[in-house]
Amino acid sequence: MDEKKVMLSGIQPSGDLHLGNYLGAIKNWAGRSEEFDCYYFMADMHTITVRQNPADLRRRTLEQLAQYIACGLDPEKNTLFIQSHVPAHAELGWVLNCYTMFGELSRMTQFKDKSAKHKDNINGGLFTYPALMAADILLYQPDFVPVGNDQKQHVELTRDVAERFNHIYGDVFKIPEPYIPKTGARIMSLSAPESKMSKSMPEGCVFLMEKPEDIQRKFKRAITDSDTENCVRYDPAAKPGVSNLMNIYSAVTGKSYEEIEQEFDGKGYGAFKPAVGDAVIETLRPIREEAQRILADKAYLETVYRAGAEKAGYIAGKTLRKVYKKIGFVAR
Ligand code: TYM
Repeated sequence: MDEKKVMLSGIQPSGDLHLGNYLGAIKNWAGRSEEFDCYYFMADMHTITVRQNPADLRRRTLEQLAQYIACGLDPEKNTLFIQSHVPAHAELGWVLNCYTMFGELSRMTQFKDKSAKHKDNINGGLFTYPALMAADILLYQPDFVPVGNDQKQHVELTRDVAERFNHIYGDVFKIPEPYIPKTGARIMSLSAPESKMSKSMPEGCVFLMEKPEDIQRKFKRAITDSDTENCVRYDPAAKPGVSNLMNIYSAVTGKSYEEIEQEFDGKGYGAFKPAVGDAVIETLRPIREEAQRILADKAYLETVYRAGAEKAGYIAGKTLRKVYKKIGFVAR
């Protein structure tokens, strides 16, 4: 039998999971385990590039695991783990730091954005973050890395670093492909559609665990466009707010933009906004309920992340040993 291809991705538990994380990433992870060998993790080591409250970080890491499972990632079929439980990430991260160039790191959009936002804490980790992300990925030799649009640049850097390393030492790393969804890859803020949806702007951000009435309120207040047309039409340049809502509606219902335009022909924004809200609420309802149920069972979550770390550690250890040998470290 052919070996299954490998898929891997992670999310930082630096905030509560939101609709952008779900549509851009997690939704495309679920239901893949027949076809792929799947690894998904909580990227807790990445979160400390920005100051975190320790108790909140611990709580959110476990909540994120419960939400992964509630989104359809069956722990029997997917390897779910916490990044800091697999020391090979830090170890390969250091090695790859030495194969990632200052100039490359300086060009990363996320570094530029975050260093502008956290001027009092532009630390070394924030800068070298992509080398750790490259380690996260390359340890598992994945074929695909399913992420939203904003992480594409980091996956491309990972490919460059892997190619550089392979060029010196032979075929050590598989070169991974970013896997970006057709709809949902870049969900914008409901309150400021020129910015991507993110937890730092909570009014424009819909969280997976949010109450339906709060979600509906955010959709009803969503910024639509200042044109007088009041017509549901896909045109990201001229109508960023409405186009973002159409992207969300399309991602949750599977309808094409033409179908959506027909459905709301002559109805205007007043009918469209709450309809998007309802569709999102119905998508998130079972996820929220299931996550709450799973979260209550801490012992179960512990068995999941322990088993996940063991399996991930085994695979990651194999790659790390190979790397250490190639670069000339004496075997333990
Ligand atoms: P993070 O934690 O910022 O985001 C997690 C995932 O959610 C996607 N995403 C979005 N997609 C669409 N619209 C949005 N508004 C939106 N906001 C976030 C992101 O593209 C991402 O897929 N560095 C990564 C985490 C990471 C990782 C990895 C990912 C660490 N190691 C290895 C893949 C492989 C990050 O900060 O994503």
